[in-house]
Amino acid sequence: MKLWGGRFAEGPSEVFERFSGSLHFDRRLIGADIRGSQAFARALEHVGILTAGEREQLVAAFDQLLLESSAPEFFAGATDEDVHTVVIRKLKEKVGALAEKIHTGRSRNEQVSLDTRLWLRGETEAVQALLVDFMDALLRLASRHPHAVVPGYTHMRRAQAVLWPHYILAYFEMFARDWQRLQQAHERINVLPLGSGALAGSGFPFDRQEMARDLGFASVTRNSMDVSGDRDFVLDFLYAASMIMLHLSRLAEDWILYSNEEFGWLHLADGVTSGSSLMPQKKNPDSLELIRGKSGRVIGSLNALLFTMKGLPMTYNRDMQEDKEPLFDAVDQTAMSLAMARAVADAVSLREAVPAAAVEDSWVVAADLAEALARNGTAFHQAHRIVGRLVLESVQSGRKPADWTGAQLIAFAPEFTADMAAHLAALMQPREGMKSREIPGGTGPQAVAEALSEAQNRLRAMRGQAQQP
Ligand code: ARG
Repeated sequence: MKLWGGRFAEGPSEVFERFSGSLHFDRRLIGADIRGSQAFARALEHVGILTAGEREQLVAAFDQLLLESSAPEFFAGATDEDVHTVVIRKLKEKVGALAEKIHTGRSRNEQVSLDTRLWLRGETEAVQALLVDFMDALLRLASRHPHAVVPGYTHMRRAQAVLWPHYILAYFEMFARDWQRLQQAHERINVLPLGSGALAGSGFPFDRQEMARDLGFASVTRNSMDVSGDRDFVLDFLYAASMIMLHLSRLAEDWILYSNEEFGWLHLADGVTSGSSLMPQKKNPDSLELIRGKSGRVIGSLNALLFTMKGLPMTYNRDMQEDKEPLFDAVDQTAMSLAMARAVADAVSLREAVPAAAVEDSWVVAADLAEALARNGTAFHQAHRIVGRLVLESVQSGRKPADWTGAQLIAFAPEFTADMAAHLAALMQPREGMKSREIPGGTGPQAVAEALSEAQNRLRAMRGQAQQP
């Protein structure tokens, strides 16, 4: 069965059918296609194309189809062009000639947009829920080590000491923005395209607001040509998913490093690691590596569709059928990666003494010292030079910050004054310097405790704002 055979003297070639058919992947949209068609049957009744009895018969047949479609044998042997065609063929098997009316005033161009929107709306909500669960695991991980001190890095070199929750909250912020991006994508997905026809608007006076209410859309599209040619809403989701994966990938990279023998401060539980077939001692962070690897795949999907769309003339072109495989794959990989990342976060613990020693052995206190001098009246550039010399001298003589007493510092440079002595000795402990960073957004212990409890509130609000499917 074709939805378009009349104009053709000959049928399509076998290779063309195989090449152009999309049923093997767009079958995922069957639930959406059926729900959309039920709403469309109700709209057809309102414009007088169907009687109430016919509408009832069609809606009931669709209900049956929906049930049957979850059985694995539903698609067995199906050679239909796409999901829209298989649904109408099966409808015909159930209601006979009445099925010939269901496509009145409707085009597959709007139908594919409708189906994708309905399906993606639910998937976006599901990904948001997975993201919130993962962020919750991050906050639990921060709270398991509330006072731990770790080196913060720039250029992959120890830079300044930060609290462990401060580091984790940096990722929380990235994922909170990702949640908002999904929310924005959801807003643009959740618009009813039905009523647009092939490209010029339907020839039947459907109440589009009523159709939107029926299908739970927040609004209706404003231009039928735009509907036919638009895949922005898919790209919006793919961008949001790519950002999630980018952030997950950076976190994975951090934790792969922090858990290796050279860093040695993160402990990954057995359940999220694997061994080597040859080297009996190995315990490899494959879960994190796969998250990092899959990020390339999702970012690739975003790029695939950007390239597909960029040269298309108005309006619909069959190229656009190429949107679905990257979208489906991106949804799957992002959802799985979030679930995996959550399990990893739950299975991670910090060996607090190791990063604490890394912080104490290095000169991460240098900026704190320079700033203490600046607070005491020395110009900052001058203070920077003094502490720079102190570090050079220490590196050359193999001294750590804690090896310096207040008196020795005063002897080293006159800018270290006697009234600073007690404070100076304390400043050689990284924890002390952190106390000077009680600025909102800083790593001061009070600021971090407040940020952590704010993050918990924000996460609760995200759960509260979640769309009701
Ligand atoms: N399978 C098609 C797609 O995914 C459905 C729309 C077909 N429309 C058309 N004019 N051939 O885009």
